[in-house]
Amino acid sequence: MTAELSPIDNAKFVAAKRAADFVENGMKVGLGTGSTAAWLVRRLGERVRDEGLKIKGVPTSTRTAELAREVGIEVITLDEARWLDLTIDGADEFDGDLNLIKGGGGALLQEKIVATASDRMIVIADIGKQVETLGAFPLPVEVIRFGWQVTQTLIGEALVSLDVLGHDSALRMNGDTPFVTDEGNYILDLQLHRIGHARQLAMVLNQIAGVVENGLFIDICDTAIVGFGDGRVELRDINEGTIERDRLDVQENDNLFTDLTD
Ligand code: A5P
Repeated sequence: MTAELSPIDNAKFVAAKRAADFVENGMKVGLGTGSTAAWLVRRLGERVRDEGLKIKGVPTSTRTAELAREVGIEVITLDEARWLDLTIDGADEFDGDLNLIKGGGGALLQEKIVATASDRMIVIADIGKQVETLGAFPLPVEVIRFGWQVTQTLIGEALVSLDVLGHDSALRMNGDTPFVTDEGNYILDLQLHRIGHARQLAMVLNQIAGVVENGLFIDICDTAIVGFGDGRVELRDINEGTIERDRLDVQENDNLFTDLTD
């Protein structure tokens, strides 16, 4: 299997591969959801197989759980783990303070619970996810199915007085039917275009009846591993204020990653 990765997949892959180096024997690790996180899970599976790495993984979605088991990672629940050493996950957008928009893959609720139950969260992303100001990517908000249209109206009314450029939202669909999360809820995607005060928005949204959680991750992540199409990676640590640069080669056997679909 020697298919060539596209630049964007290469960027995701090198970020994931570098992040896997942070996982040590004996760790309990939160496993994110999405195509970048899937590469991480595959790489960890490879380390379990080749190096005898011993870890316990807490997946953030049913599809990540399936993949983790498939590649040989021991899977436990968050309640079994109680607390995690590290969570590594992708993002839909990240800004200079490593505040994130997540939930494009529909797993934001478990992702946020797992990330906040961890000593450390590392976000892995291709450089295309970096933004000056969050909000170009529609903000996912998980809502209870009961009365979701009323919740949507209440969200629209709240947005009018907030520092955002758009107020529209759409129910996420899966073909002809609404998309249903692992927790049995719906997702509203908010077309905000620009989020002026992400922290305030996150708090206001979570006070609306019917809202379960929103996809803004504020002050949860302090390390980003950013991949570039040419194999470069940057490790940004906002606590230390450091940026480390590296370059990874995608070897032929790394192409086992190319058959992932997410
Ligand atoms: C999943 O719900 C999201 O939070 C993902 O982390 C996000 O959509 C990133 O996905 P990709 O790694 O596929 O870009």
